[in-house]
Amino acid sequence: MKRAILTALQRTEDYVSGQELCSWLGVSRTAVWKVINQLKEDGYEIESVPHKGYRILHSPDYVTAEQVGSLLRTVWAGGEIHYFETTDSTNNEARKLAEQGAPHGTLVLADFQESGKGRRGRAWSAPKGTSVMMSLVVRPSLPPERASMMTLLMGMAVSAAVRGLCGLEVSIKWPNDVVADRKKICGILTEMSCEIDYINYLVIGTGINVNLDEFPEDLRQKASSIHLLTGEKVSRAALAAFCLKKFEYYYGRFMETQDMSLLQEEYNDLLAGKDGAVRVLEPGHEYDGVSRGINERGELLVESGDGTVRQVYAGEVSVRGIYGYV
Ligand code: BTN
Repeated sequence: MKRAILTALQRTEDYVSGQELCSWLGVSRTAVWKVINQLKEDGYEIESVPHKGYRILHSPDYVTAEQVGSLLRTVWAGGEIHYFETTDSTNNEARKLAEQGAPHGTLVLADFQESGKGRRGRAWSAPKGTSVMMSLVVRPSLPPERASMMTLLMGMAVSAAVRGLCGLEVSIKWPNDVVADRKKICGILTEMSCEIDYINYLVIGTGINVNLDEFPEDLRQKASSIHLLTGEKVSRAALAAFCLKKFEYYYGRFMETQDMSLLQEEYNDLLAGKDGAVRVLEPGHEYDGVSRGINERGELLVESGDGTVRQVYAGEVSVRGIYGYV
């Protein structure tokens, strides 16, 4: 009921009458009043005016199931939401839930991760209350070799949400970083459980640097936050909800063809360093070339000096501009 009342209040900037809430939810005025008080205790500023009803004046910056759920406008993404104030890693929690049968679209959110995971065994950390850290369970009917494209879809979703909500110009550093002003503001780690020919589930873990106001010395050149770049504080819940809405859209487009052919052009418009020099770092092998964008399988096309084009698969590969991180 708390989520339903919060949703009703968040949907409009106008007053929502107590009577409307009562008849809509089939509960008494006292029950509604109790939930309003709980919300106030949770930090929501709610105005109540006789004969008009209730209106939210200010929402706290939480990424709880109630807060994100009340802002979600999706069909399946975030259909089930699990929130942890602190956890080791939302990807780990999502994997556990997926093993227990959690449905397609299950979302795990946390305010703090004790051992957040980045790509290639690296750590991902962010101070409490500053970031979006979420993991989405998806169960696509796809051959496992196509799973890496889910990372590209989430990159597109985050880019669209950050642009739409924060007005920040962003691009994507293939395959899994969203960057602004040549600095990383988001990383994506997709993990998979599969058999040789089918996917059991994927966990798409996304970390967005939202309201951080500083970074450790060693990261300052490479990483930034939406707050540092725009000067604004952003609602993490609204951003998470927007990302899921966009992800659902891109996922739908992707599944029409089970590849990137309908999204390739849009992706390449977002791609950082397209037609620029890149260095490809494969385990035990490095080479330079020119980035020519992705193909319909989501592979990065890298043209060598002699005109041959290699298709780089987003496995253990890292690609960077030869003059820096992007
Ligand atoms: C990277 O850039 O190396 C990927 C970073 C992914 C971080 C996110 S935060 C939410 C989810 N849980 C994790 O432990 N990792 C991902």
